[in-house]
Amino acid sequence: MDKKPQEHRQGARPREVPPVVLLLLAMVLMNALLYLCLDQFFASPPQPPGQPSRCPSGYFRVGQMTSCSPWLACEELRTQVRPLKRVGDGAVKRVFLSEWKERKVALSRLTSLEVRGDFLHGLQMLKSLQSPHVVTLLGYCEEDNTILTEYHPLGSLSNLEETLNLSKYQHVNTWQRRLQLAMDYVGIINYLHNSPLGMRVMCDANDLPKTLSQYLLTSNFSIVANDLDALPLVNHSSRTFVKCGHRELRGDFVAPEQLWPYGDDLPFHDDLMPAYDEKIDIWRIPDVSSFLLGHVEGSDMVRFHLFDIHKACKSKTPAERPTAQEILDTYRKVLNSLRDAVMTQTREML
Ligand SMILES: Nc1ncnc2c1ncn2[C@@H]1O[C@H](COP(=O)(O)OP(=O)(O)OP(=O)(O)O)[C@@H](O)[C@H]1O
Ligand SMILES: *[C@@H]1O[C@H](CO)[C@@H](O)[C@H](O)[C@H]1NC(C)=O
Ligand SMILES: *[C@@H]1O[C@H](CO)[C@@H](O)[C@H](O)[C@H]1NC(C)=O
Ligand SMILES: *[C@@H]1O[C@H](CO)[C@@H](O)[C@H](O)[C@H]1NC(C)=O
Ligand SMILES: [Mg+2]
Repeated sequence: MDKKPQEHRQGARPREVPPVVLLLLAMVLMNALLYLCLDQFFASPPQPPGQPSRCPSGYFRVGQMTSCSPWLACEELRTQVRPLKRVGDGAVKRVFLSEWKERKVALSRLTSLEVRGDFLHGLQMLKSLQSPHVVTLLGYCEEDNTILTEYHPLGSLSNLEETLNLSKYQHVNTWQRRLQLAMDYVGIINYLHNSPLGMRVMCDANDLPKTLSQYLLTSNFSIVANDLDALPLVNHSSRTFVKCGHRELRGDFVAPEQLWPYGDDLPFHDDLMPAYDEKIDIWRIPDVSSFLLGHVEGSDMVRFHLFDIHKACKSKTPAERPTAQEILDTYRKVLNSLRDAVMTQTREML
């Protein structure tokens, strides 16, 4: 009984294809077809309404919005957005918590026409670098010098300590969460260094408070870059380098190559100041990460494990510093190994 069908099948093979094989073949074909169709469906870019993934360029979706809306233009910004109160003030923008269709949004206004160039550069960067690493753009009006972005009630990273100190956020004030924040930050630098607009350097970051003020803390405790007003391009193959501002920089928060190299004998002169590359961002990472790690239980243990990579970031020679990607990989390894260690400890205690 057992053997008969097999014999039959074997005998039949050379002459005609058995129905099972045909069925299988049909299934494979159907699968391939389905795969191609789905691929086509997901890859097609103009898909504004009701997509679960990110919106295409020129559209946005925030909060509970179910579909993508086009960026608001001048007319809508003028008539539909109501400023409520000032929440931020910088050299370039004055920022207002505002209301749009019963939603909280952030309206930025140019402070002075003298810095309009920076304002428009920042807008251009915001438009081109929309990604999970960058604050969501909701609209803009160049004529009125206004930009509308997603509002983040926890504000900039300058408020991090105060925020995490609140009792309602004690549960996220852990070394794990804080190391995750440092990974977000390095992830942003990594994104800027490999951006769709080429290698971009975060120039407006000459001291720690300034640096922290350029990033926002989201309500789910991740970090997004917000102020992109000074993101010059580095291109190693065309030997294009950058200078952050035209004034002399001092102190050890900025990279050594950003300091005036000719001593006191020669007074500072912008034309004589050598340009530098993206490694100035790497130099600052240990300081920013250390701030983000803070002083909770486990912070120092993490610092200890990051000692070597942070030491490499502080190499006097820029080329010897690691890339943001290498730092990110190291952070991830440390997070995973410490997590495993803590789990093993916990298990042993039980
Ligand atoms: N979307 C937002 N949600 C909440 N707060 C915001 C938002 N955008 C800006 N702010 C607040 O406003 C401050 C200033 O914003 P921003 O850095 O964009 O201004 P700026 O004038 O470009 O600054 P700079 O002086 O660095 O040039 C931020 O540090 C933050 O505290
Ligand atoms: C918040 O931090 C301050 C020090 O900056 C400390 O004195 C205070 O006890 C902290 N509050 C809470 C709720 O942990
Ligand atoms: C960098 O420079 C090279 C050589 O000049 C050029 O081909 C390339 O397009 C440039 N890249 C960017 C992002 O500008
Ligand atoms: C956290 O919030 C940001 C923006 O507010 C959102 O893009 C992201 O998907 C959220 N992440 C998670 C894990 O919810
Ligand atoms: Mg700023």
